[in-house]
Amino acid sequence: MCGITGFTGYTLALPILMQGLEKLEYRGYDSAGVTLADDIGLVTLKAKGRLSELRSILDESELLQMTGIGHTRWATHGVPNNLNAHPHTNKRNTISLVHNGIIENYMSLKQMLENFDYDFKSETDSEVIVHLIDFYYRQCLDMETAFKKAVGDLEGSYGICVVSRHSPNKIFVARKESPMILGIGKEGSFCASDVPALLEYTRQLISLNDGDTAILEPDKITVFDAEGKEKPIEWMDSPYDMQSAQKGGYDTFMEKEIHEQPQTIKETLRGRLSGRKIVLPELDDIRDNLKNINSVIWIACGTAYHACVYGQMILNKHVPINSIAVPASEFRYGNYHVDRNTLCIFVSQSGETADTLAAIKMAKERGALTIAVANVLGSSLTRLADTTIYTCAGLEIAVASTKAYTAQLVLLYMLASKLSEIMGYSISEHQEIITNLRQLSNMTQQFLECCKPVVKEYAQMMKDERDVYFIGRQLDYVSAMEGALKLKEISYIHADAYYAGELKHGPIALIQYQKIVVAFATQPEVSAKTISNIKETVARGARVILITDKDTKADGFSYIIRLPQIHPELSCITSAIVFQLLAYYAAVERGCDVDKPRNLAKSVTVE
Ligand code: F6R
Repeated sequence: MCGITGFTGYTLALPILMQGLEKLEYRGYDSAGVTLADDIGLVTLKAKGRLSELRSILDESELLQMTGIGHTRWATHGVPNNLNAHPHTNKRNTISLVHNGIIENYMSLKQMLENFDYDFKSETDSEVIVHLIDFYYRQCLDMETAFKKAVGDLEGSYGICVVSRHSPNKIFVARKESPMILGIGKEGSFCASDVPALLEYTRQLISLNDGDTAILEPDKITVFDAEGKEKPIEWMDSPYDMQSAQKGGYDTFMEKEIHEQPQTIKETLRGRLSGRKIVLPELDDIRDNLKNINSVIWIACGTAYHACVYGQMILNKHVPINSIAVPASEFRYGNYHVDRNTLCIFVSQSGETADTLAAIKMAKERGALTIAVANVLGSSLTRLADTTIYTCAGLEIAVASTKAYTAQLVLLYMLASKLSEIMGYSISEHQEIITNLRQLSNMTQQFLECCKPVVKEYAQMMKDERDVYFIGRQLDYVSAMEGALKLKEISYIHADAYYAGELKHGPIALIQYQKIVVAFATQPEVSAKTISNIKETVARGARVILITDKDTKADGFSYIIRLPQIHPELSCITSAIVFQLLAYYAAVERGCDVDKPRNLAKSVTVE
């Protein structure tokens, strides 16, 4: 959500800011703007809508400044329009600011500033920050002091970049609970809210810590801690390259990322299987604490929450311990019993989801042991957890999560299995599963290629539907939930998931002639029951797309996809390939913008 870019250096800033904003488009936005700075003054241009609208009002031959900031805004406080779009400037047009996050005390700050005759043009919380900096600047006539004082007054979350006519080749940066990456290269100094914006110029990066501020100058970056003391910078070499931020011959990032899964599964397993054992050294330091755990709560949002339901079910299959999965947005307000004998596992692709971060803080306050399962190196979640286990899915750019989800399933299987071992329980059929994990990458590669034509055909059949129903039991219910989410978020076809056994308790009233039901039946202990539930829908005229294993008896189905032979505890991973492709092809057929579905953002950094 919301994208920030900033540059100060030895070459034109505008092209760098615009290409950075393009690279961040995937995060979702509804207006955009830039400010360019030099000692003559500030030029700010903004437009509602896509970046092309902003481009159409930029006269590149006139905008030759070498310092600037840019922003793509996803509306939270105030509708998307030019006034609410960032950057925001002070009245005298000497200071300009872009901000991601939410300023919780903006009302009281606004009242204070109004008492000093400050006028507000927008409905945003962000505008208060620029006036606050102006307020302090008038007192001390020093931008660095004014910026730090203003940041010190803010409550809430923020990633902030400021340029000013008073210090025209500097960018002032602050971060709290909203990502901010800084980079230095031969053209100058850069900042952005996410790595893809910087990869074309440098791979020497740092992620600013919570509470830190920084000053960017063309030849150097200086970082300060919350007390204002200068800190040494430990540059890291970005694990990503430009290729990972490009489509590489595919039409969309989502298509590319679906096809990357054999590789990302392999990467996630790399070094974690040794002989007949699963190896997770990340648990070594908390091993003793794990022995005292008497309940486990799996917490996340959206797709990552579905992965949590999978993790919880796998653990429950093997360990008689209280284990539940809870959406992060609910966890905070439900009265869940959490104490020092509770293990809370937080799963997040971005590691920046506001609800998940708020949930981990609450769990820690109550003394819980915490594990993060995250994809983004050094993200906020990983800084808060007692230990982090990384999925190795690489940069995921499409808003709809695909490769991160299957990497989460693989890792959560290993985590649940390792927890069982540490808690003194053995996993039945463990060896068969280890063998399957070793085969998983090749298996998904072959399956992906061979199932595409038939999935495409079924997606074609689905494209004009208003509603589609996804059903399954046990682990197949996880696939039903995630399959329904994928379809609705990118194709806008209404889709819901039901436990197959619950159909006759209500939802079957919706099943009419020719309705489409996507059914999963891969769990031997319940497959026969699921098949008879499906037959009830067939009897009412439904067209059922059945996704099942090689052995389940399923005669008389017109639309059927047989998954490769795999242990049922891992079949959620192969099922995912099918429903991701189904949603993808259906969305393409309907002409949807697959990578950037409406109203959605890649990383939801507001609650
Ligand atoms: C759906 C999707 C979202 C995310 C959710 C959590 O395809 O991507 O539902 O899974 O917003 O995001 P992370 O995993 O970054 O915490």
